[in-house]
Amino acid sequence: MRKTVFHGIRLIIPETVYEPAEDTKLILEALEELSPEGKLAADVGCGSGILSIYLARSFERVIGMDVNPDALSALRENASLNEVSDKILMVCSDVISPLRVKLDLAVFNPPYLPESPRKEDLLTYSWCGGRRGREVLDRFLLQVRDAVRDGGHVIFLQTERNGVPETETLLSSLGFRGQILKERKLCFDRLLVWMAQKI
Ligand SMILES: C[S@@+](CC[C@H](N)C(=O)[O-])C[C@H]1O[C@@H](n2cnc3c(N)ncnc32)[C@H](O)[C@@H]1O
Repeated sequence: MRKTVFHGIRLIIPETVYEPAEDTKLILEALEELSPEGKLAADVGCGSGILSIYLARSFERVIGMDVNPDALSALRENASLNEVSDKILMVCSDVISPLRVKLDLAVFNPPYLPESPRKEDLLTYSWCGGRRGREVLDRFLLQVRDAVRDGGHVIFLQTERNGVPETETLLSSLGFRGQILKERKLCFDRLLVWMAQKI
């Protein structure tokens, strides 16, 4: 277990769960600028739960979702530590498939390396994004359309190397209007935070 404070949020993080990093920070900066609010948000791939806890300040309910069951245990513990347990629901899922609700906002900081995760090592789900590094992201975008209300928003991260034109094409074919909100240079790549609105 690691104990940390990230962006003013207290966290206890099991070894099998992603510790917030530069990508998490960039999404938090985007959320801070946008100040979104509403009834229902989903934090897909919640990891430690940091984005769920942040969103719980301005949404009536937040659904934290992850394929890694240890991440949901971490979210439960960290939500309690930050006194927002009453606002957070937890769902163990592969991206967003089981949701039958209408979201105002869905947020996803997905894995983006071009490798397949290993079932025996849950932490690998944090960075292994499958084929070309964007298999999980593409599946999310295909599924999130039905989960977000008309006019609702999706905020997600990708790396430049994983293909900006592919994201633009997919978003417009799904009826989203998308724009890149934030960028940050890494050693050999660039992190991009997108915001897309369902039209
Ligand atoms: C880069 S981490 C982000 C964690 C946290 N949201 C943050 O920003 O610090 C990616 C998260 O997505 C989860 N994940 C990976 N594949 C997934 C899938 N198919 N469905 C749901 N969650 C997934 C991982 O288990 C991991 O917790």
